[in-house]
Amino acid sequence: MTKITAAITAVGKYVPDFVLSNQVLETMVDTNDEWITSRTGIKERRILKDTDKGTSYMAIKAAEDLLAKTGLDPKEIDLVLMATTTPDMPVASTGVYVATQIGATNAFSYDLQAACSSFLYGLSTATSYIESGRYKKVLLIGADKMSSIIDYTDRATCIIFGDGAGAVLVEPNTEGLGFQDEILKSDGVGREFLKIEAGGSLLPPSEETVKNKQHFVHQDGKTVFKYAVSGMADVSEQIMQRNNLTHSDVNWLVPHQANKRIIDATANRMGLNEDKVLVNIHKYGNTTSATLPLLLNDFEKDLKKGDNLIIASFGGGFTWGAIYLKWAYNTEK
Ligand SMILES: CC(C)(COP(=O)(O)OP(=O)(O)OC[C@H]1O[C@@H](n2cnc3c(N)ncnc32)[C@H](O)[C@@H]1OP(=O)(O)O)[C@@H](O)C(=O)NCCC(=O)NCCS
Repeated sequence: MTKITAAITAVGKYVPDFVLSNQVLETMVDTNDEWITSRTGIKERRILKDTDKGTSYMAIKAAEDLLAKTGLDPKEIDLVLMATTTPDMPVASTGVYVATQIGATNAFSYDLQAACSSFLYGLSTATSYIESGRYKKVLLIGADKMSSIIDYTDRATCIIFGDGAGAVLVEPNTEGLGFQDEILKSDGVGREFLKIEAGGSLLPPSEETVKNKQHFVHQDGKTVFKYAVSGMADVSEQIMQRNNLTHSDVNWLVPHQANKRIIDATANRMGLNEDKVLVNIHKYGNTTSATLPLLLNDFEKDLKKGDNLIIASFGGGFTWGAIYLKWAYNTEK
């Protein structure tokens, strides 16, 4: 019997039109373009300004982009997996709403949250459903409206994050392409260093929590940075070793876009030149669940059938990992 692997067969994206540049941030908090650029690599980020629109708006747009590119009938989709840290509401599921809005009426859906690793973990989940033979078409969306949980008077966080969405279709492959291996990790030590304290069961919303700004992201950047650098580099190196890949075998590193210095440290450890590393952090900042599918979409034309990709992430929790896959299709330049 032919082995079934799970392959990404299409990508789509959406980013809001509004651009928040470093120059504009200079007028909002005590920072400057030179500091942000040299410490993070970020020049600008996109913000969903409409106060009546949530993460689902961007997720629907990204899914519709994918559907338009492929001509896929949404009724053929079995599962819509929604990777997000900023759901429209705590209840009901954002993915369920998105699935209905795009016409995926035969699909079931749910949300998956692992901070900046949500999409990577989602790719692992989608892969397992496909490899098991239970489902044939999984639409995995990574979307976050980070601007809804950022304090724009806090220079430690507001310079980093942006809004966006990306989508991929995961389907069975019988040529041995697609998913090859994964190393996924988590460590609860991270909860202290990157969190939104209030709004959950531990500290429900109150006048006090609003006054104390406990519904915004707080992070100890230095500590997160330290863990992220070693975490992402470790798993990326380990997955190469476990699969006997040298730096010349790896065509592309697809790294989570949190900080250009974290990306460089990972590439360095893997022995990869800059031209093999996908980067768009300068345009979008850290869009959390959307960084990885946005990269795959933006560089789709450069990815060739059979190329070896290492996709790596690090996020709050902490959550991190690496997936090794062989790209499954070519796109016209
Ligand atoms: C947030 C981050 C960019 C800060 O960079 P850093 O090099 O660690 O900077 P530090 O926090 O050590 O601050 C260095 C100095 O710059 C100052 N500073 C901090 N933010 C600043 C800003 N936006 N503009 C100007 N100066 C700033 C600090 O106050 C500090 O000044 P001091 O030396 O006088 O005390 C970096 O720590 C980071 O990227 N961390 C990981 C974040 C991350 O990945 N989060 C998402 C999880 S995936």
